[in-house]
Amino acid sequence: MTTPRPETVAKLTPVLTKRWLSPDAWRIGTYEQLDGYAALRKALKAHPDDLIQLIKDSGLRGRGGAGFPTGLKWGFIPQGDGKPHYLVVNADEGEPGTCKDLPLMTHDPHALVEGVIIASYAIRAARAYIYIRGEAVHAARRLRNAVQEAYDKGYLGRNILRSGYDLELVVHSGAGAYICGEETALLDSLEGFRGQPRLRPPFPATHGLYASPTVVNNVGTIASVPPIVLGGADWWKSMGTEKSSGPMIYSLSGRVVNPGQYECSMGVTLRELLELAGGMQPGHNLRFWTPGGSSTPLLAAEHLDVPLDFEGVAAAGSILGTTATQIFSDQDCPVYATYRWLEFYHHESCGKCTPCREGNYWMVRVYRRILAGQGTHEDLDTLLDTCDNILGRSFCGLGDGATSSVTSSLQYFKQDYLDYIEGRTAPKLSEKTLVGAH
Ligand SMILES: Cc1cc2nc3c(=O)[nH]c(=O)nc-3n(C[C@H](O)[C@H](O)[C@H](O)COP(=O)(O)O)c2cc1C
Ligand code: SF4
Repeated sequence: MTTPRPETVAKLTPVLTKRWLSPDAWRIGTYEQLDGYAALRKALKAHPDDLIQLIKDSGLRGRGGAGFPTGLKWGFIPQGDGKPHYLVVNADEGEPGTCKDLPLMTHDPHALVEGVIIASYAIRAARAYIYIRGEAVHAARRLRNAVQEAYDKGYLGRNILRSGYDLELVVHSGAGAYICGEETALLDSLEGFRGQPRLRPPFPATHGLYASPTVVNNVGTIASVPPIVLGGADWWKSMGTEKSSGPMIYSLSGRVVNPGQYECSMGVTLRELLELAGGMQPGHNLRFWTPGGSSTPLLAAEHLDVPLDFEGVAAAGSILGTTATQIFSDQDCPVYATYRWLEFYHHESCGKCTPCREGNYWMVRVYRRILAGQGTHEDLDTLLDTCDNILGRSFCGLGDGATSSVTSSLQYFKQDYLDYIEGRTAPKLSEKTLVGAH
């Protein structure tokens, strides 16, 4: 195990995670002692438009994967339109490897509740929803308890803190489908329909929940709002890089000594994160990793010093995504890992569009053939051709994301594929997997 050097420890910037280790951090009493609801008091004295401007000035970008500027999104909500407005928090967190939102809701649910109230006030919403993954029973329980505590203290409901502002907040548990994290599928699911993406335009900003103006934001995005209100835009921008401001929770999993969440200024490198996490497990050397979940192209050991912000990762040919860094070593097989991810995408494909529904089905079969020692050189062209027909031609991002590990593993680790095809690597799957498998 490597002990992190003081200069690397200094890279930690606990803002969203700062209360996680406090005793009973999830209770409102603890939260109030540690700055809790101070931002709400401040925000309710401000004009909603000034809050939107503050978030724009902070440069906050969505933490749900795409990095869309949050203030801009809030600014799209038409004002004075006479329609109800909604804030919907995306707490589905289904991307493989991603584990930042569930720990936040488990350890510090009031941070999200307070963010919801401020954001709803800014966009003039009288009703907000938190759509949480169905399996996350523990986090949902903590969240529901926090919402009740907030109602009891007058932070939710009618005439919040005598400001004249009313807000109802509902925690809704989904049924556990990855596609319901896609914001329009989420809205359909919330309305009681089968969760499938909607055609855009129109966008949720004008035709979202119940065809009304809606902001959909990630848990981490909304939980960032209270600290920005308290600390100001310049303080927020003092962390991170020019175009990727603020701290970010990086979740490390896989072959590291201490997997978990590490909150650092955006732009930290994997080399530094690994040092914070105690290094690679004994006997393992870094071989490949995802910078932001399984939907982001793989990176290799040569990318250890890439700044992990939106621009840095894009320049290296990948996507920052959800900052779920899954670490694989020289004892892991990139072909097999990609196969397992594809199984996931095939299983989770909602079936609405042909490229994703059919493409993933066939790619899984090709991988099984390769891993069972029966692949051909032509299979590699078939895989790339299939990806070409999925990427950019699918109805939503799930299809696009499914191709990431296929194309990037072929780019960096083609030899591993050839070793299966040419018989140098022993088959990982038995021939039985090729018969009648779905
Ligand atoms: C298949 C799929 C799954 C997604 N899952 C999530 C999720 O679990 N949580 C999330 O916040 N965003 C998820 N997204 C992104 C959302 O569609 C949306 O961009 C995000 O909630 C916007 O919030 P933000 O602007 O705060 O990042 C997913 C997108 C796709 C295509
Ligand atoms: S890309 Fe996949 S998940 Fe998205 S709409 Fe098409 S079939 Fe459904």
